[in-house]
Parts: sequence; structure tokens; C-alpha cells
Amino acid sequence: MSLTLLNFHAVRNLQPVEMTPSSRINVISGANGSGKTSLLEGIHILGMGRSFRTRQLKHVIQMDQPYMTLYGRLSGEPEVTLGVRRLRAQRELELRLKGDKNARLAELVEAMPLQLINPDAFRLLEGSPAGRREFLDWGVFHVKHDFLAIWKHTRRALKHRNALLRRGRIHPQEIAVWEHELAVWGEQMDTLRRDWFSSFLPVFEETLKVLLPLPGLSLHYARGWDKEKSLAAVLHDSRPTDQQMGFTQQGPQRADLRIRINKQPAVEVLSRGQQKLVVSALKLAQGRFLERTAQRHCIYLIDDLPAELDEQNRQQFCGLLEDMQCQAFITSVEPSALKNAWRTGTSVAMFHVKHTKEGFSDLLSDS
Ligand SMILES: Nc1ncnc2c1ncn2[C@@H]1O[C@H](COP(=O)(O)OP(=O)(O)O)[C@@H](O)[C@H]1O
Ligand SMILES: [Mg+2]
Repeated sequence: MSLTLLNFHAVRNLQPVEMTPSSRINVISGANGSGKTSLLEGIHILGMGRSFRTRQLKHVIQMDQPYMTLYGRLSGEPEVTLGVRRLRAQRELELRLKGDKNARLAELVEAMPLQLINPDAFRLLEGSPAGRREFLDWGVFHVKHDFLAIWKHTRRALKHRNALLRRGRIHPQEIAVWEHELAVWGEQMDTLRRDWFSSFLPVFEETLKVLLPLPGLSLHYARGWDKEKSLAAVLHDSRPTDQQMGFTQQGPQRADLRIRINKQPAVEVLSRGQQKLVVSALKLAQGRFLERTAQRHCIYLIDDLPAELDEQNRQQFCGLLEDMQCQAFITSVEPSALKNAWRTGTSVAMFHVKHTKEGFSDLLSDS
């Protein structure tokens, strides 16, 4: 599965984009500010319904334009078309999948699994658990089909319990109902996450070994509550303190991935460059795992790769991509920056983003 056509209208500074990526590996070059990241941002919005640069999609709409549209076609039998439109004056996205106007975001996400590797990627280690939970759940969502339904039930039960905790007097029977719900669905979520994690771990270790051998590094899954107790018991026992705090302190909403070097948090020990390689290994492993278990291929959006890696790491990174079936969109200021990183015979499509006189940018195909 790969993108065979992209049509963008009014995305940041880009002139209307019509791109037909003919290869698996697509390199997009252009000067600073020409719109390379904007192109990746457009693909990200198409597959995820949100940007990686801003929380407010209205900023992505070209100045003075009332709306932006993004359209993509995925190869396969049959082909799949995806569309997203965002009006400046309307918060909601209009989504389309295979022509269906009532498509839901989860369906777009499922149709086009995306992984982003950009200069902010090291934040996955440094930042809050929410980012790592999202990484974990991305993996589970794409291979375990009942995950989304279980996640929704869990979230609903948690919302109800939290609302009751914030209320002055709680009727024990009323909260017990939601605690029971949360315990049932939360345990199921943990089972799916744990299963996924135990199969993902060896793929990650194998990938990391290629990029950066770090023998002391370990990756753990923490489920979000006491290891020794059931979720039902934890919720019951922590009810008084949860009530004081006004929220549920333990549960699947607190799950995390812990990355350590000899028992110390990896962020405290590794250099920035090493952190980026560990994150790259995590993200490449997601795609490799998806290929092996679900025979599905994700699309990599890789922003500014050469700037992040030295010559040797570039080759190892590119080698891992070449060994996969995935499609990749890779940006770089210099078109030649990755020339020596690919094996002989690998076909690489080159695109160039160029400023026009009006201050906009054109995407040109070099082939
Ligand atoms: N909503 C917008 N409308 C028009 N131009 C924009 C908008 N948002 C950003 N820009 C401009 O578009 C360009 C985007 O550049 P960017 O995609 O980051 O380039 P690159 O990754 O090639 O350095 C910048 O020059 C920026 O000023
Ligand atoms: Mg950029």
C-alpha cells in the first residue's frame, strides 16, 4: 500500500500540489522555507486529521484562503481514496473515505498508517507519558481489531468515575457501577497492550542493534496501576484519595513505556543524537512489526533526515527503510544529501520545492 496521488489545495505556502509518487522512496528537496515540511504536514493531516506542527489546523490553511483540501489515493485492490477539507470558519474537519462523506477519523487512520520521524522526535523519550502512550496505542490499534471499541468503553467509564469523584457526596453504589466498567475494560486494554508489547519488543531490539548498539538499554511496558493488584481492587482502595484529588490516579490512562539504560532513565544518560536514534529505532520497529504481523505497510514521513544523522547512521537508517515494503517521504535541503546512503539499484524519486515570484512554492518532479 502506498500513495500514488496527492492533491493539496491551499496548504500553507504551497501552490496547488499534484504529486504522483512513483517510487517507494521519495526525496523532497528545497531551500529553507520552501514548503518541504508543509508537504509532510499535509500528508499527516490526511492520515491523522491533525498536524504535527500546530494544534489549530486553521493555521495550516493558506493565508487569505477560505479553506484547504487534501486528497490522496492509495494503491491496493481496490484503490482507496481519502479526502480532508477544513474551512477557516468551521472547526470540524470534513472527511471522506472511498467517497463516503460520513467517514470517521479512525477509518482514515486505519486506512493509512503513518509514522513521523522529525527533529522533535527525541521528545518521545523526554516528554510526557501521553506521547509514549500514543505510540503504544498506535501499534495496538493497527494489529488488534477490538482495541478501538475497548478504548472507547474505558474512556467512557473513566469520564463517569471522574465526574462522580468531583461531585461532593458520592453514592457508593453509583460509583461502584462505573468502577466495575472501568475495571472490566481497563483489564482488557492492558491485555491487548501487553500482548502487543511482548511481540513488539524483540523487533525493537533487533532494529536498535542495527542503528545503535546499546547493550544496557531496556524497554518496559507499565500498565498504569499497582503490579500486584487487580484494577478493581486498586479503584476500590484508592477511592478516598481519588476523591480528594478529584480524579482517578491509577488505571490504563496512566500506562507508559519506560526506556532505561542500566536502570536509569535513558533521557538522563543518552546524548541528544543517541536519543534520536533510539526514537528512530522505535518508529522503524513499528513499521517492521506491522509488516510482519499484519502484512500492512505504513508510510514514513521523515523530515530533515540528513541533518539528524551522520554518514554511517544515514546508511543504516536508509538500509532499514529499503528492507521494508513501506513508502517514505524524506525531506532534505540538498537533493544530493542522501545520494550515498542508498544501496546501488534502489530507485529514488526526486522532487523539488521551488519558490515562485508571488512568494508561493511549486512542487516539481525531477524525473
Ligand atoms: N498559512 C500559511 N499561508 C501561507 N504561507 C504560510 C502559512 N504558514 C506558513 N507559511 C509559510 O510557508 C513556509 C513553510 O515553510 P516550511 O514548510 O516550514 O518549509 P521548509 O520545511 O521547506 O523549510 C514558510 O515560509 C512560512 O512563512
Ligand atoms: Mg522544514
